[in-house]
Amino acid sequence: MKPRDRLRIAMQKSGRLTEPALDLLNRCGLTFRQSRDKLFCFGEGEPVDLLLVRDDDIPGLIAQGVCDLGIVGRNVLNEFRGVNGDADAALTEWRPLGFGRCRLSIAVPQEMDYSKPGDLNGLRIATSYPGLVNDWLRAEGVNAAVITLAGSVEIAPKLGTADAICDLVQSGGTLVANQLRETDVLLQSEAVLAGPTALPTDERGDMIELLLKRLDGVIQVRESRLLLLQTSRTSLDAVTRLLPGGPQPTLLPVAGQPDQLMLQALCAGEVSWRQLEEIKKAGAREMFVLPVEKMLA
Ligand code: PRP
Ligand code: ZN
Repeated sequence: MKPRDRLRIAMQKSGRLTEPALDLLNRCGLTFRQSRDKLFCFGEGEPVDLLLVRDDDIPGLIAQGVCDLGIVGRNVLNEFRGVNGDADAALTEWRPLGFGRCRLSIAVPQEMDYSKPGDLNGLRIATSYPGLVNDWLRAEGVNAAVITLAGSVEIAPKLGTADAICDLVQSGGTLVANQLRETDVLLQSEAVLAGPTALPTDERGDMIELLLKRLDGVIQVRESRLLLLQTSRTSLDAVTRLLPGGPQPTLLPVAGQPDQLMLQALCAGEVSWRQLEEIKKAGAREMFVLPVEKMLA
């Protein structure tokens, strides 16, 4: 294949991962020109382009070297790796991305007697993930027939084409609507950044490293809050003890009030009303919790 000097990232064309994936790339400083066919989007600032495809095709596109990276569900990545065996041990999950969380689960008709995987012996399981289901059945020592369906898996039991299913569950609404109940979780999934285990050794490799650094910053920022408050010097210890985890706070003098301090602390994660009320009781006032927009450690 002809070497490329621009990085190419594959992502889902339209679906649950599309919007959050684009948003994440934008936050990493990548913007794209919308093309008319919407299949290929040219990157405007950095030499990074987008390929919008069916999510099932993403691991294959990376394995073939058509794309350098992909944003795809762990379920799709692991199914591909399982089915394609050794040849694709070369694909790695570079980062979990914290959105598109769901699980791959076995579900059975509500009225069916089920207490353990062994109850599936001799039954038919419909799924779009035959590789992952067969792995699980083998590990559980269960002998069941796996029926591969591209979609509408959840209606198979009602149609009589399968006895149970294995499909993605997010809210659980689809299962309830089809009188199914979830019994076993095979995989906890979320969107991940997938790529080759060995990064390209040319400029694209450098670009991937830069992107990973920005991504780490964006993910950290998304989970960070800046807490600002005022406290008297005498309450400082009590207030500091209640601060949520994070690096040492910064203390600043308050003009005209020598016994007062302004405290600034970076918190890893949400700061709840209850935590704020506790901190206030300890002597803090003028408290602000701010989202963090960018961070470069
Ligand atoms: C997934 C999955 C279920 C549904 C579960 O399908 O296959 O059908 O979501 O979500 P719920 O628990 O919130 O109801 P998706 O919407 O991704 O579409 P697809 O199956 O057509 O790919
Ligand atoms: Zn589905």
